[in-house]
Amino acid sequence: MIYLDNGATSWPKPESVVEAVEKALRAPASPGRSGHKAAHAASRSVHRARKGIAKIFGVKDPERVAFTPNVTWAVNAALWGLGLKEGDHVLSGALEHNSTARPLRRLERGRGAAWERVDPGPDGILDPEEFRRRLRPETRLVVINHASNVTGALAPAREIKEAAGEVPILVDTAQTAGSVPLDDMGQWADFICFTGHKGLLGPTGTGGLCVKEGARFSPLAVGGSGSRSESLEHPDFLPDALEAGTHNTHGLAGLAAAAEFLLETGIDRIREHELALAELFMAGALQASGLRILGPQPGDRRRVATVSVTLEGYSSSDLARILEEGYGIMTRAGLHCAPLTHQACGSFPGGSVRFSFGYFNTFQEAEAAAGALREIAAKPRAAGLS
Ligand SMILES: Cc1ncc(COP(=O)(O)O)c(C=O)c1O
Repeated sequence: MIYLDNGATSWPKPESVVEAVEKALRAPASPGRSGHKAAHAASRSVHRARKGIAKIFGVKDPERVAFTPNVTWAVNAALWGLGLKEGDHVLSGALEHNSTARPLRRLERGRGAAWERVDPGPDGILDPEEFRRRLRPETRLVVINHASNVTGALAPAREIKEAAGEVPILVDTAQTAGSVPLDDMGQWADFICFTGHKGLLGPTGTGGLCVKEGARFSPLAVGGSGSRSESLEHPDFLPDALEAGTHNTHGLAGLAAAAEFLLETGIDRIREHELALAELFMAGALQASGLRILGPQPGDRRRVATVSVTLEGYSSSDLARILEEGYGIMTRAGLHCAPLTHQACGSFPGGSVRFSFGYFNTFQEAEAAAGALREIAAKPRAAGLS
């Protein structure tokens, strides 16, 4: 089996992550709730996760990292927490995942906030100048998917923030956290949304957002926080303001171990390995006749190791099925929860087959995937049609 679906969730997880989850599951505690030793130990473990995530994003104060079940929840917490209303304007890239596109659509339909999208250029990359041009006096937020989960295109998010000036920026780092060094992001991004189970190598059910000092929002959900129990008002300080209800203690223990693994390994090293895998794969795959790579082409470092292809004569679902059944290669076919991106790339509604590489993939696996595509492409086209 060759696992090339790290864009969906990374696999395998480091052994230290698996061990940390198991150890936490065996411990009798809910963090921040009781005063006994086990509860304190659980609180320390959650804090370790906060510290690790803060370090990865260059956030000085770990208390500004709030945990949620995933990036989808984090994006919703930020978008709804900003209280956007009729007359407000939100600018986003056109490469958004449904986890931001659907809340934005709902804000548009339900609250009357205007949502405008900026298309990528012919190279698949967003242009900060285009964002500068589209800013309006009533623009309240800029939303950026830091790397497309379809094409792998990296957004020049820092330059977009510079263009946006005082307008806050929300960055969806689902496809970059853990795969691209982001240790300056805490200095300039207002809302950094992350998910723990992809490049961060942690368990599913973990994610969160880092909120820059001065960024204003109100909590989306309120409830028990383990703090200020005398009051019926939910705390307004971080991280409690955004963490109503019991933590995913074992998931966060795994995320703490994952962050430590990433920091010890070096995210710059991970990036180079993943990019080298993608380059090797793309060079080999492009020899297959009728194959098209969406977005940034070989040699362009403005990408992550997520590569989407279409192959003439094959639907994306047929191609993925042949790859799995004939070659044991696991990919993801279709629209990848990102119809807007496929529209921008001209691959809607058929979609593409996505090969997403991770730190634990090998060069042999990348070469095998490219070889499989060459072999499939060399067969009579009709053989691929269902
Ligand atoms: C760019 C992007 N944003 C958001 C998400 C949603 O992630 P999650 O399901 O962990 O919230 C994904 C993953 O599917 C993604 O690739």
